[in-house]
Amino acid sequence: MRSFPALLPALLSACLMTSVALLSASLTAPAALMAAPADALATGTKDGAPPPPDPVFGKAIVIVFSQTGKTMRIAELIAAKTGADIYKIEPTVPFPPHEGEIIGLEETRRAEGIPAEIKGPKPDLTPYSFVFLGAPVWFGGIPDHVALFLKDIDFGGRRMAIFASAGSQPGDIVKKLATASKGGAVIAPGLVNKREDDWGDAAMETLVEEYLVALKKSLNDPPAAGAR
Ligand SMILES: Cc1cc2nc3c(=O)[nH]c(=O)nc-3n(C[C@H](O)[C@H](O)[C@H](O)COP(=O)(O)O)c2cc1C
Repeated sequence: MRSFPALLPALLSACLMTSVALLSASLTAPAALMAAPADALATGTKDGAPPPPDPVFGKAIVIVFSQTGKTMRIAELIAAKTGADIYKIEPTVPFPPHEGEIIGLEETRRAEGIPAEIKGPKPDLTPYSFVFLGAPVWFGGIPDHVALFLKDIDFGGRRMAIFASAGSQPGDIVKKLATASKGGAVIAPGLVNKREDDWGDAAMETLVEEYLVALKKSLNDPPAAGAR
């Protein structure tokens, strides 16, 4: 039988190995716990977390120009229901919040031939498989700021859908936005809400739900109907 001093190195070594094992367990346990909230975010189960990308649209982006908030309401509902990101096209100098004032400023700018200016940078479309594009009708067509944004963007064959808001004369805004979206494969239908339409919360929910259902039908029934 070995004496106690002879056993000491073996005992010390056993203690050391146990400590290392305990230390390593205490380091890995918090990491495993930290993974839980991240998983909850990814599945949209945590309060305030964005929903996961829609299985039909994939990862989507809503590109929107809105100065008095109406087109933005549609944009936000689309984003909430599809998990899309929102990119706002913004004028370099913000407009006042009242439509009459905006019309006056825009009439003056256009009459004086001053170019519209928007903030950068433009969004990187690489992660996105689907693009929603929304704008109000200005002077019977696309606001100059939106035309400027679209001028040097190529949507690279991505599927796209158009939405808009208007006063009483929307004209053919959907067709105009579709035509200006170079490289985009625009699918039908487009959505236009006019001033006289119901802008109540319930009506807006239904409007956007029906729009998304119709778009999904378009996506599932190839060839996609062109909105052009
Ligand atoms: C400069 C300007 C021009 C407009 N021109 C038109 C027009 O030609 N036809 C129309 O129906 N509405 C017109 N409108 C009304 C807007 O299209 C409408 O209020 C829209 O819902 C505003 O969208 P927003 O709140 O997202 O900015 C115009 C508004 C502005 C500010």
